[in-house]
Amino acid sequence: MPSPTDAALPMHVPVLLAPVLAAAAGARRAVDATLGDGGHAEALRRAGAEVLGIDRDAAAIAVSRRRLGDERMRYLRAPYASEEARRAVAEFRPDFVLLDLGVSSRQLDEPERGFTFRPGAPLDMRMDAAGPTAAAFLNGADETTLARVFREYGDERQSRRLAREIVRRRARRPFAVSDDLVNAVRASLGPRAGAPEFARLFQAVRIAVNDELGGLALALPAFRDALTAGGRLAVISYHSGEDRLVKHTFREWASACVCPPEQPVCTCRGRPLGRLSPRKPIVPDAAEVAANPRARSAHLRIFQAGDAS
Ligand SMILES: C[S@@+](CC[C@H](N)C(=O)[O-])C[C@H]1O[C@@H](n2cnc3c(N)ncnc32)[C@H](O)[C@@H]1O
Repeated sequence: MPSPTDAALPMHVPVLLAPVLAAAAGARRAVDATLGDGGHAEALRRAGAEVLGIDRDAAAIAVSRRRLGDERMRYLRAPYASEEARRAVAEFRPDFVLLDLGVSSRQLDEPERGFTFRPGAPLDMRMDAAGPTAAAFLNGADETTLARVFREYGDERQSRRLAREIVRRRARRPFAVSDDLVNAVRASLGPRAGAPEFARLFQAVRIAVNDELGGLALALPAFRDALTAGGRLAVISYHSGEDRLVKHTFREWASACVCPPEQPVCTCRGRPLGRLSPRKPIVPDAAEVAANPRARSAHLRIFQAGDAS
């Protein structure tokens, strides 16, 4: 039973719920590898699946467990790309795996977790209290690494200038709170720096701190291999770098030959591992974006595993 406190928390409608449920139709065992507050997991269970819920955030596991209980639910607190999680998913033999990437609304709403650029928030951004914080990253990374993170994960054209500004400022006083990064962004980007820039550049730091693209690249093939024949792997991403990685990975799996074009004879697997279904990403409609602005940048891609034969 949900506790009164949990019931009082706002429960957002899970992003792209209808197409996720359509992709999971008939699934008897589903993995929700980014459990969050359990919105998708709850719907998957209601549709008939037993659900393995994974999250690296202890608070997400606790909230979901209180909300959903243990009936046809299993829980694992671990990064989904960890060996423990990949083994648990393989042993579960799911028909459906969901990744709803990034941070939850609850994580964003808790200033002490440091995902926000609201004034005075500590620069933490870790999803599981393990490894270096955002402050440690900003104070320790060299200028080239900082510039690469802002360019690659934040699409920032002035990435070098921002990296230089951070290195200059941290020599005077180490970065500790959101204001330190906000002020560095303001100083290097000038008047064009506003909430969208802060959100984009904070997200870039978060992606680096949690090695989000590295984990995704490791987990995708492991989850595909764990699927039963005909099973589906669905990924919702909110960031162009993540979506690009998912798109290219799924396309490669769906092609018959992955040998270099100049190679005269095919020596690779010579058959597709499954198909993209549908071929294009699914995005939320205007009504969903109006109801939940967080869904704005969501892209859902679905890969269906072929027969094992
Ligand atoms: C967008 S929320 C998921 C919301 C969920 N679908 C729902 O309906 O409530 C993303 C969740 O994934 C978790 N997460 C992000 N990266 C992770 C990783 N590498 N391993 C495990 N959990 C991760 C976050 O802690 C967060 O709780």
